[in-house]
Amino acid sequence: MNETQKSSAGNKIEFVLRDYVRELPLYDGDLDINANINADTETPPAAVVDFRREMSEAHAIIIGTPEYNYNVPGGLKNVIDWASRPFAKHCLIGRRVGVFGCSPGDRGGKASVEYLRNIVPLLGATLVGQELLFPKINSLISPDGKIDRSVMSPLTELANELAD
Ligand SMILES: Cc1cc2nc3c(=O)[nH]c(=O)nc-3n(C[C@H](O)[C@H](O)[C@H](O)COP(=O)(O)O)c2cc1C
Repeated sequence: MNETQKSSAGNKIEFVLRDYVRELPLYDGDLDINANINADTETPPAAVVDFRREMSEAHAIIIGTPEYNYNVPGGLKNVIDWASRPFAKHCLIGRRVGVFGCSPGDRGGKASVEYLRNIVPLLGATLVGQELLFPKINSLISPDGKIDRSVMSPLTELANELAD
């Protein structure tokens, strides 16, 4: 899905919604370029190449996630692992990153968000925005997909901050 809106400064913001969790294989240094001293490939999987290019070209990235057993779901961790290599030359360095949590429970993915807010700066990216949690998310999205204003307003604010 592509969506366009104006930022608070009047600039055009284009959102690209991507779900890489199902697209990327399980991280394996033997499939990756420059991951190991003796890497045995010069060509990471095509999905990884596309993913890293998209990340590099994005002005900013928003990561939205629930939590699994008080951490990010394994699929998201795998996406981050692919993004974080080659070491010190990867696609997250210098990116502006916003994070939000959402879950049907009362915590709104708090542990996931705390984890992500810790590691984003450690990965060389710039963390933007306040802690953003949406508990009971099921009650905030109508059957026809309309998202409640209590979710959309803070997300729009985050997008504007990221666009600056
Ligand atoms: C393995 C597993 C672990 C979960 N652990 C948590 C948790 O620690 N905290 C929480 O609020 N919800 C937890 N949940 C509930 C998820 O937040 C909920 O299933 C959510 O809808 C998952 O989103 P998804 O279907 O997009 O993965 C867990 C769900 C699963 C399947």
